[in-house]
Parts: sequence; structure tokens; C-alpha cells
Amino acid sequence: MGKILVTGGAGYIGSHVVKLLNLKKKEIIIIDNLSTGKKKYVKNGIFFKGDIRNKSHLYKIFSNHKIKSVIHLAANCLVEESHNKIDEYYENNVVGTINLLDLMVKFKVENIIFSSSCSVYGYKSNKIKEDDNLNPINVYGETKKVCEELIQSYSKAYKFNYIILRYFNACGADLENNLGEDRENETHLIPLIFKSIQNNKPVNIFGKDYKTRDKTCVRDYIHVQDIARAHFKSLSFLRKNKKSFIFNLGTEKGLSVLDIINITSNVLNKKVRYKISNRRKGDPPYLVASSSKIKKKLNFTNKYSDPRLIIKTAWKWFQSIN
Ligand SMILES: NC(=O)c1ccc[n+]([C@@H]2O[C@H](COP(=O)([O-])OP(=O)(O)OC[C@H]3O[C@@H](n4cnc5c(N)ncnc54)[C@H](O)[C@@H]3O)[C@@H](O)[C@H]2O)c1
Repeated sequence: MGKILVTGGAGYIGSHVVKLLNLKKKEIIIIDNLSTGKKKYVKNGIFFKGDIRNKSHLYKIFSNHKIKSVIHLAANCLVEESHNKIDEYYENNVVGTINLLDLMVKFKVENIIFSSSCSVYGYKSNKIKEDDNLNPINVYGETKKVCEELIQSYSKAYKFNYIILRYFNACGADLENNLGEDRENETHLIPLIFKSIQNNKPVNIFGKDYKTRDKTCVRDYIHVQDIARAHFKSLSFLRKNKKSFIFNLGTEKGLSVLDIINITSNVLNKKVRYKISNRRKGDPPYLVASSSKIKKKLNFTNKYSDPRLIIKTAWKWFQSIN
């Protein structure tokens, strides 16, 4: 497969992707500026502390390593924060992606896998298909949409292939408990529930006036190891087939915030207290994937995304780092 450059490989999802690529005996180069990721979670590959906005640093990496494929995860990725740091989000996510694409062209790199997000869709009320229209309602989603368009346009012009993976809600932790979510500024529901249990404080439910079954937001929760598996499958596919695709990565199951609270309480046999707060800016009420396209084209199905397993693995990890 040649060398694989993983941007954002010290982050939550990136570290799981790197672990799997290493198990599959791939040669991995990682670049991460450690803005949210942590060096201690880079356990394999050659690591460069650096920023994808720094084109000359990227140039050096591409010159010194024969990179065949890029897996591009590095980004700023918090929905609410994106509204307060619009310029930073565009610069990091969009300019960083342009730098990578320019160097891919210069060094004739054949493939890219890009971490996109269900945030590109905006308001939907049914299972979302990849060809549904894109109408992001937050800046983060807008930056991902722009990156997708850039990748498609460069690919057409310069003849490389891509797979764009639109992840829904990544969650859970490595089954061997070596990796998991560990952020300074946590905004994701499951670790926030765990924190609330640990501190004996209520967890916030942001908005209980949505037009959903129980009036809380509905999301599609996919285990991070399934996301990692989808990257490996995508890479193998690209190497063989030289065709480009966009795929959702979800489970087709919608779980509300209250469902997740109840499942957590049930799996851990602990009471979870909650309180209702205002809606967060940029949160669509309902985001659930149709997964039929990736199943059909790549024969990919999830293995680890049972909600109880998600909670069990995430809790074990949470306890080991707190
Ligand atoms: N977590 C989710 O539920 C989710 C859902 C959809 C899409 N995504 C996408 O998946 C990717 C990874 O998300 P994550 O949850 O692992 O987040 P994360 O913050 O843990 O990982 C992002 C990594 O990128 C690094 N990084 C950021 N900007 C960089 C830059 N300019 N140069 C080099 N490194 C940089 C960070 O230090 C971090 O290690 C992101 O692109 C995100 O938008 C995540």
C-alpha cells in the first residue's frame, strides 16, 4: 500500500485508525499539532509534531517519505465553538485541506480518505442518504462541506481518488482499553454523562423542546473501532478499484439524549441525574444515517456499535484515565 500519512493521528479517532493500520502492518506517518490530541496516544508509526497549515513542514514530510495515501482527520471539530471562532475553523479545516491537496498533487499521491461529518446535512427528519441535499446549520459543518467540494474538484482535475466518510456520532473506546476519548474541553454526551456520575452532578440536556419522540436530540452512535475499520476497508478499496465515493458511517439507529442516559444508567447500574438547559447553537434535532451505500459498495457492516458495548468500553476507558 506504500506509506500512509495520517493527519490528526494523535486524536480520538485518529489514534484508533493508526492502531488498526499498524495491526495490518502498514507503514504510517503521522502529523498532529497536539492542539487537542495527545502524544501519548501515538503508539505506532513515525510521528511529526506539526501543523497542516504549515505548508513547508508538510512539504518536507512529503519529500522525505514516499507517501501513497493520505487519511485526513486533522480539524477543529466542535459545533458550538465553531460559531465563536469562524476564521480559525475555516483556516484550520479549509486551508489545511488545501495545503494537503496541493502537496498530494505535487507528489502524485493516489488516494485520500477524508473525515467528513453528518453536520454537512443540516435539518433532516428521515434516515439520511448520501445524495440528500447538504445544508449545514453550523460553521463546523460548513467547513466540512467546503473541504468535500475541494476534494472532489481537485480529484476531477488531477486524477486522484477519494473516499469521503461522513461520520455520525463517534463514541466508545478500544476494546483492549488502550485508547479512547480524552479531551480537555469535553462536549460529547457520553463522557459528559460519565463526568456527571463521577462528580455526582446532573448532566445537561441541551434543549427538550425539539420535534422528536421525547423532545431531545436524536443521533446515530457508531463505535470508534467501526470507524477505524471503515478507513482500512476504504483504503483497500481505493488501492484496488481507483474509484471515488462518499459514504455515511452510522448505524441506522436513532437514539435520543434521554435514550443514551437510560442505557448508561442501565448498563452501569447507576443513577444518572440530568437537568434541562437551553438548546446549543447549531444542533439539528435529528441525524441518523442510512448505511446501505457503504454496505453495498464496500461490503462494510459494523461490528462493535451495539449501544451497550459502546457504553461498557467507554466507561472502562473513562475510569482508567480519571
Ligand atoms: N468525534 C466525532 O463524533 C466526529 C464526527 C464526525 C466527524 N469527525 C471528524 O473526525 C476527525 C477527528 O475527530 P476526533 O473526534 O478524533 O477529534 P480530535 O480533536 O480528537 O482529533 C483531531 C486531531 O487533529 C489534530 N489537529 C487539529 N488541527 C490540526 C492541524 N492544523 N494540524 C495538525 N493536527 C491538527 C488535533 O490535535 C487532534 O489530534 C475530525 O476531522 C472531525 O471533524 C468526528
